[in-house]
Amino acid sequence: MDKIIVHGGKRLTGEVTVSGSKNAALPILIASLLTAEPCRYQRVPNLADIHTTLKLLGGLGVKIDKQGWARGTSELTVQAEMVGKLEASYDLVKTMRASFLVLGPLTARFGQARVSTPGGCAIGARPVNLHLKGLEAMGARIEHSHGYIEATAVRLHGAKIYLDLPSVGATENLMMAATLADGTTVIENAAKEPEIEDLASALNKMGGRVRRIEAGSFVIASAITGGDVLIKDARAEHLDAFLIKLQEAGVVLSCDPGGIRVQRNGKIKSVDVTTLPYPGFATDLQAQMMVLMSVADGVSVITETIFENRFMHAQELDRMGAQIQLEGNRAVVRGARELSGAPVMATDLRASVSLILAGLVASGSTEVSRVYHLDRGYEHIEEKLSNLGAQIERVKA
Ligand code: UD1
Repeated sequence: MDKIIVHGGKRLTGEVTVSGSKNAALPILIASLLTAEPCRYQRVPNLADIHTTLKLLGGLGVKIDKQGWARGTSELTVQAEMVGKLEASYDLVKTMRASFLVLGPLTARFGQARVSTPGGCAIGARPVNLHLKGLEAMGARIEHSHGYIEATAVRLHGAKIYLDLPSVGATENLMMAATLADGTTVIENAAKEPEIEDLASALNKMGGRVRRIEAGSFVIASAITGGDVLIKDARAEHLDAFLIKLQEAGVVLSCDPGGIRVQRNGKIKSVDVTTLPYPGFATDLQAQMMVLMSVADGVSVITETIFENRFMHAQELDRMGAQIQLEGNRAVVRGARELSGAPVMATDLRASVSLILAGLVASGSTEVSRVYHLDRGYEHIEEKLSNLGAQIERVKA
């Protein structure tokens, strides 16, 4: 298994261009199941989760043209003209939960689908009851058998659906199904994340550009190393809650349509953070913020309200000298710590990037193992950080 080794202590400076967003690309690629026409996508990040999605679509019989990728243009063409199979297996859904998003489009277009339930995941239970409740309201018959959901419908119809929680995945699944349902569907208490907006614009015209979480991670990388980095193509309007917290912490930001410049001269101050659905502070930036708070002046309370078990990075950060006390869904982070490099283990996607961020400021070297988590969602991260002056390398297994 590959490892990433970070030698800490370098200040990051320069420019970095963020890649297309994984969480926006996944549902948009899956949306190609809604039509027999070819869909051409640009700026598709070359990531493990995207490969899993293509494997899933390919298995259903969808034609995929990766020539653009081979030429390095990050362009893909996907055509769901002949769909021979209407099933997503446990193997795929357990590797990537977003595979569950094929349920809505397949049921809407072909009247039936068989999709494995996702089961548990490292950061907590991720039920799909809201996806199913919405499809039932649109006229689908749902049955559970042998770990699979089987949905059937002669034809879906528009419905008024209230989501008890603004689930990102359920909103996406139902939006896609609604495009082919007869009549109008209204989803109340829908998620409002930028990737939802992007899916909506893709469903309207197949397009869009959201790059949120990766950009947020580079913001922290610059701030934590006392650097000066221009993050090109980052969109500040998608990161409001996060950027306001960083400004409160003393980070200097200048935002314009070309990107976000992040500078830090003085000390970082501790701030409290609560994760919430968009436009609140994203749960996917919580681990990265915890690293920054570990070196900030003062005590910070970080409250996680989206997932019940998303603090696994805390124990690993403690091994590097952070002082984090967990109390249920709250983490009390005592700052002003001098972090020191150590061998650590990534537990999920966002946790793995937080360990790399910690490695950037830790003394000595930090060895992050289980980086397959990182490869699911960050394109060329070692290269991008090296170009900014970090000392970071990948050791192939
Ligand atoms: C998506 C993102 C993930 C991010 C999360 C929250 C993708 C591929 N993943 O995941 O990176 O961390 O949004 O911003 O875009 N819930 C239910 N019933 C349901 C569905 C969800 O109770 O039917 C609960 C979940 O247990 C969780 C909360 O709702 O506590 C949020 O989950 P959801 O927004 O659905 O997250 P995902 O779409 O899985």
